[in-house]
Amino acid sequence: MKILGIESSCDETAASVVEDGRTVLSNVVASQVEEHKLYGGVVPEIASRRHAECISQVVKKALEEANTSLSEIDAIGVTHAPGLIGALLVGVNFAKGLAYASKKPLVPTHHLRSHIASNYISNKDLKPPFLCLVVSGGHSHIVLAESYTRMKIIGRTRDDAAGEAFDKAARTLGMSYPGGISMDIEAEKGDPFSFPLPRPVVQGAPYDFSFSGLKTAIINTIHNAEQRGTEFSKADICASFRWAVVDCLVTNFLKAAEDYKVNTLVIAGGVSANSLLRKRLTEECNKRGYKLFMPEKKYCGDNGAMVASQAYYEYLDGNIAPLSLNAVATLPIDYR
Ligand code: KG4
Ligand code: ZN
Repeated sequence: MKILGIESSCDETAASVVEDGRTVLSNVVASQVEEHKLYGGVVPEIASRRHAECISQVVKKALEEANTSLSEIDAIGVTHAPGLIGALLVGVNFAKGLAYASKKPLVPTHHLRSHIASNYISNKDLKPPFLCLVVSGGHSHIVLAESYTRMKIIGRTRDDAAGEAFDKAARTLGMSYPGGISMDIEAEKGDPFSFPLPRPVVQGAPYDFSFSGLKTAIINTIHNAEQRGTEFSKADICASFRWAVVDCLVTNFLKAAEDYKVNTLVIAGGVSANSLLRKRLTEECNKRGYKLFMPEKKYCGDNGAMVASQAYYEYLDGNIAPLSLNAVATLPIDYR
């Protein structure tokens, strides 16, 4: 079964054709990052305009690269939630138009479930149930994936998402958007124990995260050094911050795995590309005999392949939308 997946929830316009949820036939991503860099973050209005300008070319290219015509596609999957509403609307309306014209089923796909599905592409043997750490620019969750379409939230962030914390800290250091990647690279050169940073915990909620205190601590450290005119190593600050964030993520994730007695662990979302997170989890899972699955780095960020993959499982579960489907800015991962 061939599914066309369309993604436009943030700053990448993407489309892909995937067979049976696992085999990628094409994967086209038009990134707007260079333009948003000028403003230090995503400007929603610009994002919507760029999606509208390039979505038809991106979808056309995805079909061409897959050597597939629209008539050979079995269903159209589209990210309908969560994300920037104006950006989501472009993908949803385009997908609705295609579904109407081609009389193909329209499959609404939750963005975070799609991030999890990027693992089905990279790891052909992976099947639920498993425990997943979903860490992106807007969300940080620990999710129990009971099946491909049944999710239970075990832990969540109480304030900033992990990616957001990386981006804000990086911005204070004058690094360009999206700061998570630049910080990860810079951190490789630094000493992670040079700046003592807190490990915020949420009392009574051992699987929840709180990154805003950590972010404030690093911002204050940078500002104090600047005000005193003290020299500091950017690499050391990045390494210390990355170590602290990853420590919080790994600690809570492993605790959840132990308490819920799950030994198949999965990571997903933009922050799952973080090299320290991947390294530390690999070491910890090896020690404990857990199986760890990670998406290939090229599928960690937003893409259409993960949408087509998740849409396959949503379709099998009967999640087919009427043409009145709307985009939704906020929707929990366990909505259905
Ligand atoms: O999943 P994603 O592409 O978009 C959302 O759905 O939000 O995640 C983007 C986030 C950004 O905050 C970006 O800085 C972060 O993922 N990110 C990273 C790395 N690569 C991307 N954070 C830390 N280390 C990385 N290597
Ligand atoms: Zn994303």
